[in-house]
Amino acid sequence: MCGIIGVVGSSDTLATLLQGLQRLEYRGYDSAGVALVRPGQTWRARTAVGTESVAALRAECASAPSGFRSGIGHTRWATHGAPEAVNAHPLLDCSGNIAIIHNGIIENHAELQEQLEAKGHVFTSVTDSEVLAHLIEDSRIQGLELMEAVRASLLVVRGAFAIAAMDANEPDVIVAARRISPLVVGTAPGVTYLASDVPAILDRATAFYAVNDDEIVRLRPEGFRAIDLEGSPVRLHQLSIDWDLETAEKGGYDDFMTKEINEQPDALRSTLMDRRHKDGTITFDELRIGDDELRDVKRVVLVAAGTSHNAAQVAKYALERWARISVEVDISSEYRYRDPIVEIGTLVIGVSQSGETIDTIMATREAQYRGAHVIAVSNIVDSSLAREADAVIYTRAGLEVSVASTKAFVAQVAALELLALRLAQLRSTLSPSDIDALFLGLNAVGSQVATVLERRDRFEAVAHELKGARDFFFIGRHVGFPTALEGALKLKELSYLHAEGYPAGELKHGPLALIEPGVVVVAVATDPAMHEKILSNLAEVKARGATVVAVATDDDESIAAVADYVLRVPATEQMFTPMVDIVPLQIFAYAMARILGRNVDRPRNLAKTVTVE
Ligand code: G6P
Repeated sequence: MCGIIGVVGSSDTLATLLQGLQRLEYRGYDSAGVALVRPGQTWRARTAVGTESVAALRAECASAPSGFRSGIGHTRWATHGAPEAVNAHPLLDCSGNIAIIHNGIIENHAELQEQLEAKGHVFTSVTDSEVLAHLIEDSRIQGLELMEAVRASLLVVRGAFAIAAMDANEPDVIVAARRISPLVVGTAPGVTYLASDVPAILDRATAFYAVNDDEIVRLRPEGFRAIDLEGSPVRLHQLSIDWDLETAEKGGYDDFMTKEINEQPDALRSTLMDRRHKDGTITFDELRIGDDELRDVKRVVLVAAGTSHNAAQVAKYALERWARISVEVDISSEYRYRDPIVEIGTLVIGVSQSGETIDTIMATREAQYRGAHVIAVSNIVDSSLAREADAVIYTRAGLEVSVASTKAFVAQVAALELLALRLAQLRSTLSPSDIDALFLGLNAVGSQVATVLERRDRFEAVAHELKGARDFFFIGRHVGFPTALEGALKLKELSYLHAEGYPAGELKHGPLALIEPGVVVVAVATDPAMHEKILSNLAEVKARGATVVAVATDDDESIAAVADYVLRVPATEQMFTPMVDIVPLQIFAYAMARILGRNVDRPRNLAKTVTVE
């Protein structure tokens, strides 16, 4: 997936595009490019140098001619075609006048390219996207204006796209369109913008609008108009934006990840704020789903990807224990392909920080199609997932920029556990006093996380001690298991070291064969109910030469007998431990990545929001 941006009517075109691309780098950074358009002239620059592609593009653009009021820009996460400059966007048609940018995949590109080549079009890249430039060119040759030419092209393509097109013969116009891949439009007096997301244009535009699937927008300096694929006019939904530029910048920290790790106490507080009436009723203002319906839920299916999937796995324990509902957790990319069973009373919860992960959106669409009620748990207000779902709970963690998710995880666990408490309240599966105690306990987690953050130096020191290690197993039991999965995910995505998460009891069924001197086993060992069992598991790996790191509570003395290094955290209620225990593991992974010289905010090959299947 990729990031796209465009502007018409600006006196500051290049700076706008480059700044926007910098903010969109989290969507991909294999290459970057811009095209500037004025009457009769299209000027283009492209670079492909890996994680620093946008910085290289900025240098390349130092020689750009001035006086362009309109342009488009792209930062790429390669799908079709190697991450080389020749495949970088913007891509041009044969005449060199039409420039396009594309995020998504054109599935029938091969057959379209064959037809276009038969007509004499010459392709210069090996991307799926270039067919768009030539299709538009074909319609322009037949006399269609740019918006109609884009519409005609989209009628023949299959797949997912957010695109923008410009033509030097129709300057001061950008035509953009969307199917599945996200796209927003922004306006300010005399200037109109488009982007994959709001932060890219946050300080430039004053009003923001979401483009829906199969809508085409014609941007001019004085505003925009939108149509659907049939050509009928449509109105775009105006977005409510509740964050400012400061939250989109590093705010004095070295990197976004450190900032976001440190914001976790605040993320928890805002997620839990105003969630209980004076009479003790837990409430979600934004939920839009009736109490009767929630009370009658027979089965919950959580669908999510990556870190959100790990948060969903924690929620399974809370929903089952507190609300006595049977819960399944599915990887969202698997859900719709396994002919899922949706019976009356099935509630599907799509968990996604961005609300734009295509696998999760497709899973919840499938669930809705089969008759399920869908709740979105999203961090981004008005995200695609939030808009499509029957109801939504916002995690209110604030903007998360670093590719590796941190504060979104703790906020998702908190929001889902709060929902579990609400369901327990409606179904009377917990006493009012138990619910009150758990609600208060949940609200105290933020300050426990703040305590853990003060111990950062200790966690970093352990990473220094283990900097030569190459293989890590993270283990845990009960909710310590998804915590271990999340700890392993952080380490592998940030440091590129081999790290796997396992239920501690499962080690003896295979992974134990890999344990030998030099291997590190990181245990989440904070749960008193599981403590003896996990000590035995650690004794087993220690006997085979592993180095043991344990996340353990302040009062745990017995851990010293089996652990070489202990990462101490305050004790909390079992269900809340993932929010506290993950923090030392995030810091450990971060420190290891820094020691190894990795780019912590932009790990190689990854992207923050994955909008391709
Ligand atoms: C990508 C990101 C992960 C994230 C996952 C799901 O893989 O790199 O950090 O957890 O997508 O994203 P979502 O926005 O749906 O939570």
